[in-house]
Amino acid sequence: MEPEIQKNLPRFSPEALEKTEKIFKRYPPEYREAALMPILHLAQREFGGWLSAEVIEYVAGFMNLSPIRVYEVASFYTMYNLKQVGRYHVQVCTNISCWLCDSDSIVKALEKCLKISVGQTSEDGRFTLAEVECLGACVNAPMLQINDDYHEHLTPEKVVGIIGQLP
Ligand code: FES
Repeated sequence: MEPEIQKNLPRFSPEALEKTEKIFKRYPPEYREAALMPILHLAQREFGGWLSAEVIEYVAGFMNLSPIRVYEVASFYTMYNLKQVGRYHVQVCTNISCWLCDSDSIVKALEKCLKISVGQTSEDGRFTLAEVECLGACVNAPMLQINDDYHEHLTPEKVVGIIGQLP
């Protein structure tokens, strides 16, 4: 059940609230805080793909935690977006394995193809380009993630093709 939440903060939909119940069931009641990461993930999906200060405050109230505690977790992991991102969030891994497999050329190809630099969002709001740390697919380096999908064994030509096929 949703606790009392102050002010005009965003709120989970009834469907999302049902999902939170399922998430909480995965953890012993005394470790309710352990559900913070999946709850943040759900919040990000629910509220437009990023975690605004208001959403963080809402999640804090929802989890009965301080907003700074929630912010500490949200700001530590690149999977949480603290700024609005484009419809396609293109995250290129530039960590050691991918870097050794020339992730630099992947970044350059994307910057040229999307006409934006790392850290930017295209004017039409379609793409945000980001460099991220290891995404755990080192064996198939170089790789990138677009929204929920991984693309591996990349070449500059392949990435241009992947971008071109996005609806
Ligand atoms: S270094 Fe790129 S996925 Fe691990």
